[in-house]
Amino acid sequence: MPVMHSLYRESGKVRIDAGICKECGSCARICPAEVLKAHNGKVQVCSDSPFGCIACGHCMMVCPEGAITVTGRGISPEDLLPLPAAEKKAGPEQLAALMQSRRSVRRFSDKEVASELLECIVEMATTAPMGIPPWDIGCVMIRGREEVQRLAAEVVKGYEGFLKMFRPWLLSLMRPFVGKARYVMFLHFLRPLAETYVRGHREGRDHVFYEAPALLIFHHSPYADISDAMIACTYAMLAAESLGLGSTIIGGAPPIIQRNRALCQRLGVPADSTPSACLILGHPATHFRRTIRRRFTCADAVDRLDA
Ligand SMILES: Cc1cc2nc3c(=O)[nH]c(=O)nc-3n(C[C@H](O)[C@H](O)[C@H](O)COP(=O)(O)O)c2cc1C
Repeated sequence: MPVMHSLYRESGKVRIDAGICKECGSCARICPAEVLKAHNGKVQVCSDSPFGCIACGHCMMVCPEGAITVTGRGISPEDLLPLPAAEKKAGPEQLAALMQSRRSVRRFSDKEVASELLECIVEMATTAPMGIPPWDIGCVMIRGREEVQRLAAEVVKGYEGFLKMFRPWLLSLMRPFVGKARYVMFLHFLRPLAETYVRGHREGRDHVFYEAPALLIFHHSPYADISDAMIACTYAMLAAESLGLGSTIIGGAPPIIQRNRALCQRLGVPADSTPSACLILGHPATHFRRTIRRRFTCADAVDRLDA
């Protein structure tokens, strides 16, 4: 049974050109789906692997002779690209510099974001590692302040409905059923957040998307995971930083957008997909003069596992 995907119902098809193959076995060693296996020095395409070919393309990428073609599940040899030259790769210092320079940006200059920049960011984000290939993630680009503002108004409308429905007395009644953490989250985070959005909107300020000139909405199919969209979104943030753009993930918008299917349709989100991550983008109007150290709450697992 192939791994489910919203567009593809079949496994990939792997073909090895026996006339070119030198039987080095690289493809069998790298295949994560147990489709290519070496047997007595010969590589075989096995039909009894658990999921069939997932179309990751690793075998095509690793074959020194170019003897392998994978087709189906949205992949073909035409998708193979030359590797970037080694000197073009960011070393650890450059990568750390990029990561340390990026901070969330909520103030943008009047300059619009060029369409090519937006497209470049999305293209770079497609390199993100997301679940099982092929990615079942989509991205809607919203270009221009006016369009972003129209969406902000829809989100605010959704929060107005939320405030009317989830009044404090109703939340008190719900508490035994939803548990303390959710109750506190609704009462002390979501309600005040919604009030901020609604009040800001009435006063002509956009607290949802911070008057950003561009927005990306990542959505995931029922066969993908929200984390796939979040990883794509994170890659897009780094891509934006490398292109001189500021960005911030906006977690307040997706819960409203995903509940408004008419809006999703207007945005071009497929009927069964869930808009799960919003990223505002723009040319920063403020510039950080320092970066800051952040910490994980780390523990050394070795001692714990020994105990
Ligand atoms: C899942 C997620 C949702 C977020 N939602 C919002 C949001 O709705 N509004 C906002 O201003 N920032 C939002 N942020 C951005 C964080 O607030 C921001 O990354 C955090 O303040 C850390 O700042 P830094 O990225 O500049 O270090 C979100 C971040 C994540 C990861």
